[in-house]
Amino acid sequence: MICESNNKSNPKFESLKINGKCSLQGEVKISGAKNSALVLLAASLLTQEKVCLTNVPNLSDIKKLKNILESIGVKFSKNINDKNQLIINSKNIHTSDLPVNLVNELRASFFCIGPLLAVLGRASLALPGGCNIGERPIKEHIKGLEALGATINTKDGLIKAKIKNYNQKLIGAKISLGCPSVGATETLIMAATLAEGETIISNAAREPEIQDLCEMLNKMGAKISGAGNSTITINGVKNLKGCSHRVIPDRIEAGTFLIAAAATFSSITISPAIPSHLNALIDKLKESGSEITIKNNSIAIKTARINAVNIETAPFPGFPTDLQAPFTALMLKAKGQSSIKETMFENRMNHIEVLNQMGASIKLENNIATVTGVKNLLGKNLKGSDLRSTAAIIIAALTSDNISFVQGLEHLDRGYENFECKLKKLGANISRDTTKNFLKIYLSDEKNIDIIKKLDAA
Ligand code: EPZ
Repeated sequence: MICESNNKSNPKFESLKINGKCSLQGEVKISGAKNSALVLLAASLLTQEKVCLTNVPNLSDIKKLKNILESIGVKFSKNINDKNQLIINSKNIHTSDLPVNLVNELRASFFCIGPLLAVLGRASLALPGGCNIGERPIKEHIKGLEALGATINTKDGLIKAKIKNYNQKLIGAKISLGCPSVGATETLIMAATLAEGETIISNAAREPEIQDLCEMLNKMGAKISGAGNSTITINGVKNLKGCSHRVIPDRIEAGTFLIAAAATFSSITISPAIPSHLNALIDKLKESGSEITIKNNSIAIKTARINAVNIETAPFPGFPTDLQAPFTALMLKAKGQSSIKETMFENRMNHIEVLNQMGASIKLENNIATVTGVKNLLGKNLKGSDLRSTAAIIIAALTSDNISFVQGLEHLDRGYENFECKLKKLGANISRDTTKNFLKIYLSDEKNIDIIKKLDAA
C-alpha cells in the first residue's frame, strides 16, 4: 500500500475513525524532520546558487514556508520522480518584507530574519505570536541579532530589523544565550555565517536539527564548528554557494511510532532513524519494559508489559518536550503511577483533559501530570488542540476498547506526513474522511450513536 494522503479537503473538516484494541506489526518508514527542513529552507536564502534539498516531508508547515519564500521571489522546482525533493533558487529575491498574512500562519517564518539580514541588510516581518503551547518568546533571537550589529524595532505587531553600520555587514560577536533556545541558536548561526569576523554562541542549543543545519551550511562554504555542543563558533565568509543536502530523519515522528507500538503491546521496526537522536526516549521505553533492538539506522521495539516511569522534559539530549504528550498516552495503561513534568512550555498539557474524558486517571498541577494507569480506556469523539497532543490522542484511541473519532487534523498534518496511512500499513484499523461523511455513514449505527451525535461537522 502506498502511503499517500490523497485528501484534498480541509483537514479542519476531517476526522479519523479509529477502532481501538489493535496491535501493530511490520516496518514504518520515517520521513524527513519537520524541524530541520523548515530551518534548511530558510538557510537557502543565504546563497544565490541553487540548493537541492531531499527527504523534505510533505507537511502543511513546509507548504506554508514555501509560499512565504515564493512571495519574496524565491523559485522552487520539483522533481516529478521525487515528491520529497525541492530545488530552491534565491537569486531573485525582490523584497525583504515578508507578507504579514502568511507569516501569521507560521511561527517558523521567523527563521528568515537571520538570512535576510545577512544577505539584504534588512528584514521586516510580523512578530511571531504565541501558539497553543505557550508564549514562545524571541528575546534571545533579538538580543543576539543586536549583538551582531542589527537594529531591531518592534511596533504594531511588526518586527523591523536592519544593519546599522554603513557597509551593510553584520559584525561577529560573543553571544551568551539566556537559555538554550533552538530557534535563537539557528537564527544566530545563519546570521553569523556572512558576518565580518568570528561569532561565538555560548549556552547554544544542541538539538540534532541544529547539527543538520550546520552540516548543510558548511557544505555551502560556511565555517562553523562545535555544532551539537553548547558553544558554537562561526567564522564569517564573503558568500555561500549552493549545495545538495538530505534532511535527517524526523526523531519526533520516529519516537511517536515507537511509543504507539509500546502502547499497543506491538512489535514494529522503524527506519530510517538515527538512534543517538532518541537516547532519552529509548532509555525510558526500556525502563518501562519494552525490548529495543538497534541495527544501523533501524530501531525495533517489542512490548509485552508497560511499567509506570517518570519523565521530565529538557533541552537535547534530555527527554524531548515534543514527545511528552505521546509518552503520556503510553503511561495511561501502565502498571503503577507515573509523573510527567513539562519544563519547556507553559501550556503543553492540553491533551490531559481529553485523555481523562476517555477514562484516564490523570491529575495535573503546575505542569506536572500524575498518571495512574487504568485497565480500560473508552473510545470517544475527541479533538486535539496542537500538533503533539493530537498525536497523543490518536495513540490513546488505538489502545481504547472501542471506536473513536479524532478531530484536529489541521494540527496533525503540520508535523506528521501521512500519519494515518502509515498506521494503517502497520495494521491499525483507522480511516480518514470528512466528518460529514462519517456522520452520514454512522448516524444510523446504534452502537456508536452516542459518539457520532457529538461529532462537530462544522
Ligand atoms: C523548536 O521551537 C521546535 N520548533 C519545537 O518543536 C520544539 O518543541 C522546541 O524547539 C524545543 O525543542 C521548530 O524547530 C520549528 P525554543 P523553538 O526557542 O525554537 C524559552 C514541534 O512540536 N525561550 O527552544 O520555538 C521559552 O520558555 C515544535 O515540532 C525563552 O525563554 O523553541 C520556550 O518555551 C513545538 N526565550 C523554550 O525556551 C527565548 O528567546 C523553548 O523555546 C526563546 C525561548
